[in-house]
Amino acid sequence: MAERKKMSVSEILAAARAQAGGGEAAAPAVEPAGGGAADAVDSAADTPVVEKPAAKAAPKPTAGGARPSVADIMAMARANKAAADAPAQSPTKSAPKPTAKPAEKPAAAKAAKPVAAKAAVARDTASILAAARAGAKPGPVSKADAPPRPAKPAAVKPAVAADHAAKPAAAKAVPPRPAKPAAKKSDSEEDRRGFLEIALGSFMALGFTALSVTGGLFSLGLARFFFPNVLAEPPSRFKVGFKEGFPAGKVETKFVAQYGVWVVNSDVAGEQQIYALKTVCTHLGCTPNWLEAEQKFKCPCHGSGFYKDGVNFEGPAPRPLERYAIRISDDGQLEVDKSKTFQEELGQWAESESYVTV
Ligand code: FES
Repeated sequence: MAERKKMSVSEILAAARAQAGGGEAAAPAVEPAGGGAADAVDSAADTPVVEKPAAKAAPKPTAGGARPSVADIMAMARANKAAADAPAQSPTKSAPKPTAKPAEKPAAAKAAKPVAAKAAVARDTASILAAARAGAKPGPVSKADAPPRPAKPAAVKPAVAADHAAKPAAAKAVPPRPAKPAAKKSDSEEDRRGFLEIALGSFMALGFTALSVTGGLFSLGLARFFFPNVLAEPPSRFKVGFKEGFPAGKVETKFVAQYGVWVVNSDVAGEQQIYALKTVCTHLGCTPNWLEAEQKFKCPCHGSGFYKDGVNFEGPAPRPLERYAIRISDDGQLEVDKSKTFQEELGQWAESESYVTV
């Protein structure tokens, strides 16, 4: 140790640069000067990692008692500093605390760290990128290497194209604003409205019906006014047939119901006459009955009795029956005229119009 050569500053720098470049050639030059630790460093390895413990151990008094000079210490410190600047050559924890067995620890470090130091030196930017690409998942490097994308469904494309084609037109022509939708009516409101409509319609229909009925009745009354009720009475003058149809002593009753007259062929004061008796009782107006067996007219109301010639003889009747006018018509038939009557008490039966001689 004593005869170790003192390193100049330039040598120290050269050695440090050599170490930083990873060369093994610098290792022997960095051998620290110092005691037994230097021997261990020499025998250990030529890497700067191994030299750190030796550098730390250098200031310590060696077994031989020779101490390194200040220049050596400085050189070794500079060497250590240069070694510490290298990332792969920094034995951080092992350097400050040299163990009791420095020869063993550097040996272990020798086995592990030189490889790392070499790798650190060899890892430039290109190598790092290459390693990263090698470890990455293989895939297309460029867009040209990428596989073609799967085609989109054909049904979507026309719609999308139409949409894209329609968008500019829609953007140009502003569509009118749609009318606001009417507020949705609730079910209850619709029901109430429907009920009101039905009720109103019913009332209106009822009113129109009543008005129509009233108008119809008014029209009927007006028509009744223009056409008054007229009784259809039989004519006052009518033909009863030829004289031969009325035998002597015979009372014809077949015209009672229709004309209210008896046609009688009887002998009156020695003269055979045909006359027409009125079928009205002179008491109170009842219609007497001809009783062929009794040869009389008998009133059913109060029992008045009249002879065949019409003269009253019993009951309350105050006077004889009346006669109608009778004559022979142009066709030879007997014609009775009810518009003219003849009364016996007035002596009218003597008039020629009151009878027809046979
Ligand atoms: Fe003929 Fe009284 S009406 S008797």
